[in-house]
Amino acid sequence: MAYLNQAALDALSTETFQTRQPYPWVDIPDTLTSEAFQCLRESLPDIGMFKKHVGVKRAHGQGYHDRAILHYRPDLKLAQPWREFLAELQDGSYSAFVRRMLGLAPDATIIPTMEWYYAWEGCGVSPHCDAVRKRGTHIFYFNTDADWHEDWGGHILILDDGRRLRSHSGPGFDQLATAASLDACGNRSLLFQRTDHSWHGVRPLGCPPGNLRKLFIVTVNVPSFQVWWRRVRGKDPDGYPLPWLGSALRNSQSLSIGTSGCIMPQSIVGWLTNHRGLHF
Ligand SMILES: [Fe+2]
Repeated sequence: MAYLNQAALDALSTETFQTRQPYPWVDIPDTLTSEAFQCLRESLPDIGMFKKHVGVKRAHGQGYHDRAILHYRPDLKLAQPWREFLAELQDGSYSAFVRRMLGLAPDATIIPTMEWYYAWEGCGVSPHCDAVRKRGTHIFYFNTDADWHEDWGGHILILDDGRRLRSHSGPGFDQLATAASLDACGNRSLLFQRTDHSWHGVRPLGCPPGNLRKLFIVTVNVPSFQVWWRRVRGKDPDGYPLPWLGSALRNSQSLSIGTSGCIMPQSIVGWLTNHRGLHF
C-alpha cells in the first residue's frame, strides 16, 4: 500500500512555498491516502514507549517545550503500517519531494530523523526558530475530531518577528505577530523551512486530562558543525545514541555525512576513519 498521497505532494509549487512570508511554509491537505491515514492512526505507538521531556531548560531564555517523544531507531517494535510508512519515507520519492521544496540539490546530503510527539493538558511549545541543522520540518497530524476538539488548542502558530529579532533570543507569543494558526487535526501536514526568522510555537494545550495531541515529525537535517560533532560522539543529529552507527554508515547513503558545510580537517577525518570506523 502507498501511504503518501503522491498527487498531493506533486501538486505543491516550490515557488509558492519558497516565496511565502514570513518564511517558507505550506499546509498540505490529504497528505496521506485516506486508507493510510486510518491505518496509521489506529496503530500509533503507545505512550508507554515514549520518554517525557517536561521542564527541560532551553537556550536563549526560551520557555519550555513540554511533550513526550519517541525517537525513531531501526530496532523499535512498530506496527506493520508504521514500518511500511517509514520505509516509504526513506525511499527516493519522498527524498526528492523534500529536496525540491527545500531548495536542495538532488545530490545534496540530507540526514532525516523521525519522531512521534504526544502532548497533554498544559504542554506548550515556546516560540523558537529551530537549530541551523534543521533545514526543514514536516509535521504529520494524527488527531481527528473524534479525539480532539478545536477549542482545546494545539494550533501550530506561524509567527512573524518582522525581522526584528535574532534567532538566539526568547520572545513570548505576545512579542510576535501570528501569520497563521493551523488546526493540527485530520489528514493534513505542515512543511516549513528553517530560516533565521522561522518562528513557530504552540500555546499550552487546554484539553481535559487523559487526552493526547499526537504528531509525527520528519526533520530534514543538513550537515553542520553540530551534526558533525554529534556524529563524532556516536550520536545522530538530534543527539540520540547511534548503536547501529557502523553498519548504517556502511550501508546507507542517506546517513552519510558529506564534507560540504562541515569544517573537518583531513587529519581528523583520517583519525576518525582509522580509530572509530567512521567514513565520510
Ligand atoms: Fe521547532
